[in-house]
Amino acid sequence: MKRQKIIIVGSGLAAYVLASKLWQHNDVTILTKNTTQHSNSIRAQGGIAAAIAAKDQWQLHVEDTLKAGVFHNHQKAVETLVKEGKQVVTNLLQQGFLADRDHHGELLLGREGAHSERRIIHAGGDQTGKYLIYFYQQLLQGKIAIIEGQLAVECVMEGGECKGIMTMGHDNQLHTYTADHIVLATGGFGALYDTTSNDPSATGDGIAIAYRAGAKVSDLEFVQFHPTMLATQAPYNDLISEAVRGEGAILVDQNDREIMKGAHPLENLAPRDIVARVMMTELTKGHQLYLDIHQIKNFQTKFPFIKSVCEKNNIDWQQGLIPVKPGAHFTMGGVETDLRGRTNIPRLYAIGEVACTHVHGANRLASNSLLEGMVFATRLADYLTTQSSVSFSNIPVNQRLHHTFHHPDLDRLRKQMTNHVGINRSESGLKQMTEWLEKFTLIQENHLTSYVLSRGQIQMQHHLLVAQLVTKAARKRLESRGAHYRVDYPFKSEQWRNKSITFQLTKQGVTV
Ligand code: SIN
Repeated sequence: MKRQKIIIVGSGLAAYVLASKLWQHNDVTILTKNTTQHSNSIRAQGGIAAAIAAKDQWQLHVEDTLKAGVFHNHQKAVETLVKEGKQVVTNLLQQGFLADRDHHGELLLGREGAHSERRIIHAGGDQTGKYLIYFYQQLLQGKIAIIEGQLAVECVMEGGECKGIMTMGHDNQLHTYTADHIVLATGGFGALYDTTSNDPSATGDGIAIAYRAGAKVSDLEFVQFHPTMLATQAPYNDLISEAVRGEGAILVDQNDREIMKGAHPLENLAPRDIVARVMMTELTKGHQLYLDIHQIKNFQTKFPFIKSVCEKNNIDWQQGLIPVKPGAHFTMGGVETDLRGRTNIPRLYAIGEVACTHVHGANRLASNSLLEGMVFATRLADYLTTQSSVSFSNIPVNQRLHHTFHHPDLDRLRKQMTNHVGINRSESGLKQMTEWLEKFTLIQENHLTSYVLSRGQIQMQHHLLVAQLVTKAARKRLESRGAHYRVDYPFKSEQWRNKSITFQLTKQGVTV
């Protein structure tokens, strides 16, 4: 069979897993905006959730995922994730991935919020993402092409199909890459908020590109805020893994008061949206918040990375208190796909955080994201091996026009997102955000390459589009569910049950 050309945009776990399944019989190229050392996957601390312990059951993992997702998840997607996840993780371990084990060789399974069992497979203590990425990088060395520094600009569309991707390098030059299949694995958009665990590159580029090309995007209002980022003034924050609370750490204020006591039956291990909101209330009252880690034995062995992060920031963790605040962590919505990673555009696919398979519902369960990347990359690989190549005509080069673009600076945009589209939302805040966004030039259509734009300007066009779509979705959803909390509609509404907000740009305009 003829080798197919496959372009993967992004270099997180989903991208590598897909490449690892396809390289033998296909020509695989990874295009990444920054370097392969930058992704959310590489920063992942907690681990991979999978019901592989003898006393665990996949049904319990399904139940936990649905509960955390406030039943906004699609049951079939969750069952696929959890059932196939067991196999995918077992295969990973058989391939030689070095997960943490005790001295009898038994896997050490961690506990995280809203899990009814210990089922988190981890590596290097709190460095699972880094270990996974290095594992796959080694596996793929010399087998695929990796091109760094390429910002994805737009899809090359022909006859309603995606036939390639235009990118721009740091030199502001456009490049066209054609392929039989284009896979977006660009991650989420948590870095559009000014307190975030995300890598700065996680700005939702894949959502912007796919939407401009006519793909459906869904559930963008559901943004997960993780309760514990290290509270510093840095523009991007270090995460203090939920596994730390899993091992017994407690959230306290400056007077040593346990803030989660009585707030939820699971207290410190309640779902993230609940913990983050309790913390916001405390912070708004001017309280300082800490993770009290006194009860954790061998903290430095269990969490070597977090220990080093504290030390880098001059925080004396040995005193037993780590200052924390909530921040944007994971985006449940994205480019709508089926359970094989197919979007509504032929030959355009999405996997990992950029995709919306509806597996996470309104709030993702901890450590389900690395699992998602692996499971849905594996499923897409199986699908692509059954597909055929495409023929290309010459891709016309657009005449590029000069135009004046009014743009905000990124810091301001991130602050606005945090203030108005953050943990607590309201009509007045969302309206302010909408009006603020309207001041800037925004190209909605798949014609960015028709303008003379620098790389920075193109990047800002992606930011603005994603910010606009998220704001619109948050304004539309007149209820509170999971990570989407409206202070003016503080309860779940029957009317919104099982309803997703989907946007699609068509010739007739935006359909919702
Ligand atoms: C964490 O380590 O707390 C993050 C894990 C996750 O978000 O899945």
